[in-house]
Amino acid sequence: MISSQTTPSGSPRHLDAPVPIGEVATSASDRRRTGIGELDRVLGGGLVPGSVTLLGGEPGMGKSTLLLQALGAMAAAGARCLLVGAEESPEQVRLRAERVGALEAGLLLVADTSLPDVLAHVDNAQPDVLAVDSIQAVTDPALPGAPGSITQVRDCAHRLVSLAKARALPVLLVGHVTKEGTLAGPRTLEHVVDTVVSFDGDRHHTLRFLHALKHRFGSTQELGLMEMGETGLVGVPDASALFLADRRSGTSGSAIAAVLDGARPLLVEVQALVAPSGGGPPRRSATGLDSARLALLLAVLEQRAGVPLTGTDVYASAAGGVRVTEPGADLAIALAVASAHLDRPLPATTVALGEVGLGGELRQVPQASRRLAEAARLGFTHVVGPPTLPEVPGLVTQAVPTLADALRAVFREADAPARAA
Ligand SMILES: Nc1ncnc2c1ncn2[C@@H]1O[C@H](COP(=O)(O)OP(=O)(O)OP(=O)(O)O)[C@@H](O)[C@H]1O
Ligand SMILES: [Mg+2]
Repeated sequence: MISSQTTPSGSPRHLDAPVPIGEVATSASDRRRTGIGELDRVLGGGLVPGSVTLLGGEPGMGKSTLLLQALGAMAAAGARCLLVGAEESPEQVRLRAERVGALEAGLLLVADTSLPDVLAHVDNAQPDVLAVDSIQAVTDPALPGAPGSITQVRDCAHRLVSLAKARALPVLLVGHVTKEGTLAGPRTLEHVVDTVVSFDGDRHHTLRFLHALKHRFGSTQELGLMEMGETGLVGVPDASALFLADRRSGTSGSAIAAVLDGARPLLVEVQALVAPSGGGPPRRSATGLDSARLALLLAVLEQRAGVPLTGTDVYASAAGGVRVTEPGADLAIALAVASAHLDRPLPATTVALGEVGLGGELRQVPQASRRLAEAARLGFTHVVGPPTLPEVPGLVTQAVPTLADALRAVFREADAPARAA
């Protein structure tokens, strides 16, 4: 409902009348699936009409690849998709499209960097989905500031947000971030857009992680996992199996953590190496783990469980390029370090679950039964953790109150000939 009013300065303007909340039209249920399962999982089902989604990541992570694959899949499903390539030539994009199988008639491509032109292309092409790669490369000649400057990036994004809302058009923007998250990148845009999906991974691994850092239409808990290959990004449905693929059982300094990334339970191998320090201050290195948490666990191991680590270098890492930061992995990290120190392997089919407190006590972790169900699915037979551990079919529970008890339980288990793996 719109009525004509007069502003205090006397000029006429339109005023929307407030409506009962139940009568507000919604379109959030008409999500458009991107056709990329892992991206849809992170988006809570797909793109909401009129929403603006920023796909942020470091250079070379595969943002353009993911975008092109999603547009190709949506075009194949009948959507008219317009991709504005502001960084690459149409030939480059075409070659990528050939490689990832996105040569679809409904995928329209234009190379342009001027914001007024982008708006005109949308008017002409009337797309169902708009994508801009990247927002940093788009400029409005009417605005001050160099291309890529904070003012330019933010104001251009604002204009695209207005366009999205006015046309109920889902818009995807690519944004670059550096390691520090600085530059006129996604950090300045986070407030402007509806959803920020971060796309990251380790340059030396092919694994890529998708996370919603902000999502106005769903949870930010979901994790998407993809692998970069010759023909683009492929979803990884069985992540635990992938993380455990290179594991060598019978090696000391290795423990399996049952962590939760978003709603998805993951089994991850934590590795540790303990070596005598060469005189200087001891080195402590954490890869894929929180270094402050590692320092705390080393102190607890030493003070509460009698594992002497003074004068030793300790290296700990989460295998496979995954990042494990939740306290539920504490016990696995501590067991891996103790196993490395003693040079005694842990039982190969035992998984560890639990937070370690400063008193050396084991604490419960949320959603333990889902994590343990994943462990049982992958063939683990024993779980060690706090007394609150739930019983899960197929798993023998070794419930112990403290870290010292957990060490005794697993190494006694490891010595039992019946369970030699
Ligand atoms: N022929 C190929 N085979 C396998 N992987 C490839 C091939 N070509 C490119 N890649 C992978 O794709 C990555 C680049 O992907 P993409 O261009 O989508 O990244 P981006 O995040 O958009 O990068 P930029 O920040 O430069 O725009 C490369 O780092 C490489 O891992
Ligand atoms: Mg790119």
